[in-house]
Amino acid sequence: MSVASNTAPFTHTLLANIAQRMQASINARLTKHLPDLYQTLQALYGDQFSNEQAFATWLAELLQVTGEIIAVRPQPLQELDTARSTDKNWFAKENMLGYCCYIDRFAGDLRGVQQRIPHLQELGVTYLHLLPFLKARAGENDGGFAVADFDAIEPRLGNMADLEELSTALRAAGISLCSDFILNHVADDHPWAIAAKLGDPRYRDYFYHYPDRTIPDNFEKHLGQIFPQVAPGNFSSVPELQEWVWTTFYPYQWDLNYSNPNVFADMAAALLRLANRGVEAFRLDSTAFLWKRTGTKCMNQPEAHQILQALRSLVEIAAPGVLLKAEAIVETAELPAYLGSKDEINLKQECHLAYHSSLMAASWVALTEQDTRLLRHVFAGTPMLPEQSSWLTYVRCHDDIGWNVLRPEASMEAEDVQQRLARVSRFYAGDGSYARGASFQANDPAAVHGTVGMAAALTGFSSAQTTAEKHLARQRLLLLYGLSFCFGGMPLIYMGDELAQTNDEAYQQVPAQAADSRWLHRPVWDEELYGQRHSSSHDAGAVFNALVYMLQQRRQLPQLAAQAARHLLNAKDSAVLAFMRGNPDEALLFLGNFSEHSISLNIAELLVDYDISGQGWVDQLSKLDVDITVTLQAYSQLWLVRKYGNIV
Ligand code: GLC
Repeated sequence: MSVASNTAPFTHTLLANIAQRMQASINARLTKHLPDLYQTLQALYGDQFSNEQAFATWLAELLQVTGEIIAVRPQPLQELDTARSTDKNWFAKENMLGYCCYIDRFAGDLRGVQQRIPHLQELGVTYLHLLPFLKARAGENDGGFAVADFDAIEPRLGNMADLEELSTALRAAGISLCSDFILNHVADDHPWAIAAKLGDPRYRDYFYHYPDRTIPDNFEKHLGQIFPQVAPGNFSSVPELQEWVWTTFYPYQWDLNYSNPNVFADMAAALLRLANRGVEAFRLDSTAFLWKRTGTKCMNQPEAHQILQALRSLVEIAAPGVLLKAEAIVETAELPAYLGSKDEINLKQECHLAYHSSLMAASWVALTEQDTRLLRHVFAGTPMLPEQSSWLTYVRCHDDIGWNVLRPEASMEAEDVQQRLARVSRFYAGDGSYARGASFQANDPAAVHGTVGMAAALTGFSSAQTTAEKHLARQRLLLLYGLSFCFGGMPLIYMGDELAQTNDEAYQQVPAQAADSRWLHRPVWDEELYGQRHSSSHDAGAVFNALVYMLQQRRQLPQLAAQAARHLLNAKDSAVLAFMRGNPDEALLFLGNFSEHSISLNIAELLVDYDISGQGWVDQLSKLDVDITVTLQAYSQLWLVRKYGNIV
């Protein structure tokens, strides 16, 4: 029997709840995506069932629930689904700009965020990622990343009505709301965890639990550590269960057991219900960890990708206007698969967006080393995007900058990897440098883990004494943002960076935060800096004006759309990163000097392989003409386009 004929009964089940006027369009989506969904779920879960019929019953239930959720999808969201189906690259264009913040730190609560929409519009934001706002675990909760209820808002931030109102207001302002969806784990006070502790067998199987250390010890031989200082190991002893539970992150974050099909079904339904509240994008947290396999690091397993592919198919059926964004902080070679992978015939769609964490971390290494070789390796290891997908490019986020993802690239030069990355880490902790960050989760100066600190503190604003030093700090910050704007993806501004906001030491006085130094770079919105945003005599204004200007330019440059071609150019001086965006006959050249020295380079030499060097060039940022030999000042960047327009 073909897959298509297999799926016919499921189509009926799902359509049973759908209003007549929606049936044709939903049916078209089912025809396109149900076969994939069926195949993926059968591959994942088929052998968990005693026979084909039992699997079919489970799948029918999943589709029935999906149908019920589609049936109540609000009309404006259905219209969005339709509009986006005709413009599938809508999120990969040169006008897209993300902004990321904690609700309480940015604006107090959900209603407060509405008041800040004008700020987002002034920047040109089209996508707002609000860090976790669902009801979190009581007490410590990893900044909301320990969710106690997927259907409730954290009370101090508001309620569901506030969320719906905010998402509507944002949509009216041309801004898509992105919510975290923490799918790897739940809080230990989530009803599933409570039921498990009470001995309910259905919910015990929602988690990985072991009577003694035999199996955990076996796994541990191959596992990494996320929080080696404050939460060492990957398993926690739970007195109520008298067992060990898998907890990759903090002991109160219980990993979900995705080998249990009911976990997948419940989580998928939770995501789709949130989509009906107006969430237009989901940041899928910790996607690399979704599947466990003995003898491996339990990251990036093929089944983790299948889970994401199945979620994508469900989203295509139920809410096709919605985006999925992978948070997978993994080595460069592992990243592309999160945007989809090809089998012999088809592209298996996965997430629309994925964080390019290697690019982010490598850009910080280039700044320290005043050398772009490692960054160039990351470029070389980044393939062209599959259709209808985009990188998420960024300079900072709420997490540490993790150095270990760069191990493969960092080992390509002669220096010992450990020493090299440890030196970078010490640099940003302020060891003889302009940076004022700190090492994350490591007391040992030879250890390599991560770096915390706001971008402005890491680029030198906090240590600058003179105007010249402030100038260099600004150039460094703008250079990193310039790369993120030009690389090819949706760039994300992390709250405070647009105002050169520096670290917040106050976390050390808050008991629930003191042990986690990531709070160093989670400051409260600074109204005073905001008031200075148009004054170029203040750091805040000097950065804000420059960023807004760069973003205005970016929106005029289709060469910077995510899907446009990218070619790394071979700048002779390794302190310079040079690359071309768009096709050669309409190219934009990005030149960035990652060193404190001024460097001259010859554009004709750079473009020797492209036969386009005879043209005059103009810098899109300064609007000045550029000679064939161009001088790049310390940490400066040029965005070169043709003086006489594109070659036709
Ligand atoms: C992700 C989040 C991080 C959190 C972790 C556990 O990596 O970005 O902040 O601690 O997941 O949920």
